[in-house]
Amino acid sequence: MKTLLSEKELYDGVSRIAHDITATYKDQQLTAVGVLTGSIVLLADLIRLMDLPMRVGVVQASSYRGATTSRGELLINAELMLDITGRDVLLVDDIFDTGHTLVEVVKKMKEFGPKSIRSAVLLRKEGRQEVDVLPDFVAFDIPDEFVVGYGLDYEDMYRNLPYLAALEPDDIARHKQNSTAEQLASYQQP
Ligand code: IMP
Ligand code: MG
Repeated sequence: MKTLLSEKELYDGVSRIAHDITATYKDQQLTAVGVLTGSIVLLADLIRLMDLPMRVGVVQASSYRGATTSRGELLINAELMLDITGRDVLLVDDIFDTGHTLVEVVKKMKEFGPKSIRSAVLLRKEGRQEVDVLPDFVAFDIPDEFVVGYGLDYEDMYRNLPYLAALEPDDIARHKQNSTAEQLASYQQP
């Protein structure tokens, strides 16, 4: 896999937005809400780099992509979320691709009457946006490639990589092989 952003580069980019966010909210109390599951690594790093009093919670967003449709219905489960009524909310997500996820999650959260909502993402993919809004804080702009690591997955794998990598066709072929019976067979070898 081709490394796109090293651990050090990720840390520097996340520190930069943490600083901007801290300056934006000054000493206000923040409610940071991470979108599961892709934001978990960013959320963990970001909250420790923001010098603000804050509450931290999560919201679940899952898209069900059918075999024929490129974009499936997005299901948002706010049951896990803490109370955001009258709060200054910062939504934290892994990547702004088409932008539909962020737009839908913000719409859902507005139903709870927060005082304000801003958004922070690790990545924004160039040339992919299909919506009119932009995230308020973006750590990195990246080319239109499928990326994994630092919370981002391919078929639920690779979220734990400490760096960001581009998944190339060869990598996908290898992934497919490894995640089938061959992997089971190799486990049984001495
Ligand atoms: P959007 O609704 O098109 O902006 O897509 C956002 C979601 O799609 C992200 O939260 C990710 O879960 C997923 N996604 C988009 N691009 C990538 C990628 O390159 N790698 C991994 N996940 C991605
Ligand atoms: Mg995903």
